[in-house]
Amino acid sequence: MLIHLQEPISREERIKSMQQKPFLVWLTGLSGSGKSTLASALEKQLLEKGFKTYLLDGDLIRAGLNKDLGFSKEDRKENIRRIGEVCKLLTDAGLIVITAFISPFRADRELVRSMFTASDFAEIFVNASLEVCETRDVKGLYNKARKGLIPEFTGISSPYEEPLNPELTLNTDKESEEVSLSILTDYILKRISIAL
Ligand code: ADX
Repeated sequence: MLIHLQEPISREERIKSMQQKPFLVWLTGLSGSGKSTLASALEKQLLEKGFKTYLLDGDLIRAGLNKDLGFSKEDRKENIRRIGEVCKLLTDAGLIVITAFISPFRADRELVRSMFTASDFAEIFVNASLEVCETRDVKGLYNKARKGLIPEFTGISSPYEEPLNPELTLNTDKESEEVSLSILTDYILKRISIAL
């Protein structure tokens, strides 16, 4: 019996069937800067407009896929590398992917950037001063880190390397959540609203 092998489905065909431009929105910033809040609010807005999205968030990924990883420089590198690969798969499937990871090291973020074309990727710096994040201390982790109970805590005992050329910066310690969200949503809608 003859087996008729078919050409694999191309990226273009998938894009056409999904009726949208796949895209990766990469949020980076200190713990407590507002990444997760903005990411899920952005996802809601996009979903309401009919886009197909997926959200990847630090705490969830570290509870599952990356539960074997800690917070050393090497483990953070592997964390971000794996997430980058997952983002590649999800965008190949045609989705608009939003991520919320501290991703404190420039080289790790650059690796993810290098996996995408410039038109499919945006690095968003969720910029809030350490002082403000520490005051918010939503999860109580800064308090513990200051007491030496959490080693290598970003901003306290492990560095955060600010993006040098992010596509967008949101100053969440100076503007309201609503303002940051509307700047972010407007920017992403411009990037993904193209004729297919
Ligand atoms: S990253 O640095 O590797 O990108 P990721 O975003 O996955 O970090 O996870 C950060 C979350 O892990 C924080 O929001 C916090 O809840 C938790 N966490 C636990 N230990 C640390 C630590 N040492 N430094 C930073 N975040 C930590």
